Amino acid sequence: MPGPGSPDEPVSAARPVSPARPVRPVRPLRRAVVLLSVLAAAGLVAVPAWSWQASLLPSSYGAHDMGVVDLGGGPAPQDHGGHGAGAGGHETQDGHGAAAVSVEALAPPADRPADVSITLTARAEPVELGDGTVVDGYTVNGTSPGPEIRVVQGQLVEVRLVNESVEGGTTLHWHGVDVPGGMDGVAGVTQDAVRVGGEHVYRFVAEDAGTYWYHSHQLSHEQVRRGLLGALVVEPADGTPAGDAPAADVVALVHQYAGRRTMNGATGDVRHLAEPGSTVRVRVVSTDNGALTTWVSGAPFRLLAVDGTDLVGPTELEDVGVQVTAGARADLELVVPPGGARVEVGGGTALVVGPAGADPVAEPRPYERLDLLTYGTPAPTGLDPSRADREFGYRIVRRPGFLDGRPGLWWTVNGRMLPDVPMFLVEEGDVVRMTITNSSGDGHPMHLHGHHALVLSRDGEPATGSPWWVDSLHVGDGETYEIAFLADNPGVWMDHCHNLPHAAEGLVAHLAYAGVTTPFLLGGVNEPE
Ligand code: C2O
Ligand code: CU
Repeated sequence: MPGPGSPDEPVSAARPVSPARPVRPVRPLRRAVVLLSVLAAAGLVAVPAWSWQASLLPSSYGAHDMGVVDLGGGPAPQDHGGHGAGAGGHETQDGHGAAAVSVEALAPPADRPADVSITLTARAEPVELGDGTVVDGYTVNGTSPGPEIRVVQGQLVEVRLVNESVEGGTTLHWHGVDVPGGMDGVAGVTQDAVRVGGEHVYRFVAEDAGTYWYHSHQLSHEQVRRGLLGALVVEPADGTPAGDAPAADVVALVHQYAGRRTMNGATGDVRHLAEPGSTVRVRVVSTDNGALTTWVSGAPFRLLAVDGTDLVGPTELEDVGVQVTAGARADLELVVPPGGARVEVGGGTALVVGPAGADPVAEPRPYERLDLLTYGTPAPTGLDPSRADREFGYRIVRRPGFLDGRPGLWWTVNGRMLPDVPMFLVEEGDVVRMTITNSSGDGHPMHLHGHHALVLSRDGEPATGSPWWVDSLHVGDGETYEIAFLADNPGVWMDHCHNLPHAAEGLVAHLAYAGVTTPFLLGGVNEPE
């Protein structure tokens, strides 16, 4: 069996046997045939020929065609003309209500002027890690990570993406930001990949303050790993109450380039000067395929926010690590001690905050890990999961089969393999519950686009701490999480594993709103994962 990929792949555990490229039938097919005939000749297995043949993906297909429609026990939407999300995606219903809307049309009003305009230019070029190491990768405006974007809540942000030299084409996805459906930046679902020489404009209102990031969603398992990403911070509109405003607010974006862990693009310790006694907010952004753990050496800290949402009543922590899964963010706050402190993220990298010359001692990763199910204090959420309109299951299992003609051990969602993965169908205004069950032998950082979901329980134990809103949730092997969200953002949204090779191998589903169609096609130039 061929190995799974390059050794620098920062994947934590076993992966299926083959690197994924959803639409590459010829060579893998030949390999499948060879393997099948060898196995069959040896009399080891009787594999029906149709199983690999049926697994071949068409050269291009619509997101709606790939889904097995799941209504989650809710009513079948009837009143949309020609919605694209019916079973098979082919029938046109001549109902009477609202006409179908294309996902492209879901955008802020074109006549509303931008408050912030930015041009981001993507290039394939060497990336310098600050210690002299140079690796092949991708940059945004000449660096990786790309520029840290800071905007104020309520501003209309307009970003012009220019692809100067990313051969496979590229896009920008605003991870964790609940952008309008047309601005999600997913190749083949909300736009076509931007080819070399092309450009694309994104417009969205930064509604929610918090820590986010942007990254390519075209060939993302390759482009994100090699650096096509950056941080996005939305500052609160009215500011924090004067007494509480942190003296410093620092992003700590963690990314591994060719096996080297970096913070804000540099290996080793990154220094941030801060007066003893002052308060620092550190925004840890986890951009690799595996989870990281963050903790603080030399000072107690509080976990202020998770995935862009402030926690309620966060208490002081010591000797505890915080898991930040792939794609997730954690905002830490600490008061700088006279000797400085280290915000650790493992892998030989830390943010040192303190006065000049401070050299706080690095403490090993704490044994104990913070449980967000019980951290902080409960508060109203504005969401009543007990009156859910739809309830979906997202069951992750790994089993042998054929993916686009290739034999292997593949991820399945609700028993099916790509492209027959679920299309969770909702109507605007639905309260949705989802139970994610993982018995696949590996943990998965599950990421729902366009929405924030409230964690209700883990393995039947209800959440009793602060409301815990996520866009990226680590579901360990053997775990079951119940989450709920309000379907308040029409579009066609991916709901996938953010260990991106897993997504490329089929750990993907879609959340589609009745009446929203997409004119874009997966396959061909568009390979979102
Ligand atoms: Cu951060 Cu679908 O992605
Ligand atoms: Cu996964």
